Amino acid sequence: MKVSIIGQGYVGLTISASVSKHRNVLGFDLNATIVSQLNKGISHIEGVDSKNIKDAIYAGKYKATSEAADIAGSDIVVIAVPTPLDGNRKPDLTYIDSACKVIAENLTAPALIINESTSYPGTLRDYIKPTIEKYSKHKFEHQYAISPERVDPGRKDYNQKNTPRLYAGLTPEATQRTREFYSTFCDNLVEVSSPEVAEAAKLFENTFRQVNIALVNELAQISHALGIDVRETLDAAGTKPYGFMKFSPSAGVGGHCIPVDPSYLADVAEKAGVQATFIQRANEVNLDMPKYIAGRVEKDNGGSLKGKKVLVVGVAYKPNVADTRETPAELLINALEKLGAVVTWNDPVVGSWQGKDSVALGGSDIAVVVTKHDVVSEVEILKSAPYVFDTTGKVKGAVQL
Ligand SMILES: NC(=O)c1ccc[n+]([C@@H]2O[C@H](COP(=O)([O-])OP(=O)(O)OC[C@H]3O[C@@H](n4cnc5c(N)ncnc54)[C@H](O)[C@@H]3O)[C@@H](O)[C@H]2O)c1
Repeated sequence: MKVSIIGQGYVGLTISASVSKHRNVLGFDLNATIVSQLNKGISHIEGVDSKNIKDAIYAGKYKATSEAADIAGSDIVVIAVPTPLDGNRKPDLTYIDSACKVIAENLTAPALIINESTSYPGTLRDYIKPTIEKYSKHKFEHQYAISPERVDPGRKDYNQKNTPRLYAGLTPEATQRTREFYSTFCDNLVEVSSPEVAEAAKLFENTFRQVNIALVNELAQISHALGIDVRETLDAAGTKPYGFMKFSPSAGVGGHCIPVDPSYLADVAEKAGVQATFIQRANEVNLDMPKYIAGRVEKDNGGSLKGKKVLVVGVAYKPNVADTRETPAELLINALEKLGAVVTWNDPVVGSWQGKDSVALGGSDIAVVVTKHDVVSEVEILKSAPYVFDTTGKVKGAVQL
């Protein structure tokens, strides 16, 4: 059996590493640098060990390629390409479209096509299938299924193997083949009655997080205005053994999923005539957090940041990963610069970002902690500036959000 995986990023490489333990995997990616590194056995993804890639290459079970024609003869093709937002914060299916084109133009026999990219309900049925059919020169019928990826990069307790996996096919045959495929490397498969349910569930999971993070960020602002410690309030509320789930205040949401996926749900809702007011408001609250934080820092520092040296500590969107996609640190830096601050950043895990390198801790007037990696010492952060503002709750002794 030959499995082709379109996109060798966080999701695609993670699945390639699992599947290539049992089956022949072709990892297709348009990025030639990534392909060349992968063929040398070098993983560019946290959570995917280079050793796994090397072992699969030596066993003859994995090869990366940028040649679309190499996917010919695949029995299964998995789509794992980005699904970002466009400039108007609307779903951008450009990458899905180009993956469909690659599949349509290069498959030489009917295959099972599984989408793992996150998108709105109806994407598999109303977009992927017709798009592949539109580009295809052949008349044969592929099978189509969805199995949204839930991987959380950097997480140790839940991984691809032990995270329950939703799946559904457009036909009973597609559903059955999808079940067989994932059962070789996933412990817990959850079949749902339609691809739309799986697609909606994936979006709702991340929307649930986005809305609750916004709610707790709003509580942080209310608490500060009332002179109450928000984290103590949350700890207190968290003692209730049922009906409450604790979320923590932060500089906002980051990564490829939480700031993006809810807007896919909002968009499809709007097209169906429903206003997704919670989602929109949650977006606004989270996107405004950096401005709120910059305002607090300004107020605490004599009402002006003009010419002040501000160090942003941690620009990755979450601890212990180098991922800076959609990081709230970017909005915070912009907000601080708008107030006249001279901003640098420290993040040894990220190293370099947007053409600039991480600077050492220290020598600034102000430090604002966005993300606290384990390798960055709390004591060193506290010593790095006379005024330290902490959005993470991890730097005791700093001014807290
Ligand atoms: N990163 C996560 O934690 C995560 C978790 C669950 C779901 N998802 C979803 O999975 C999907 C993929 O996300 P990701 O994080 O793996 O993205 P990524 O940016 O890490 O990787 C995507 C890869 O696809 C490649 N690519 C783009 N278009 C291509 C094409 N037409 N053909 C071949 N390769 C192509 C890119 O070069 C890139 O290497 C998205 O829909 C995302 O929302 C991501």
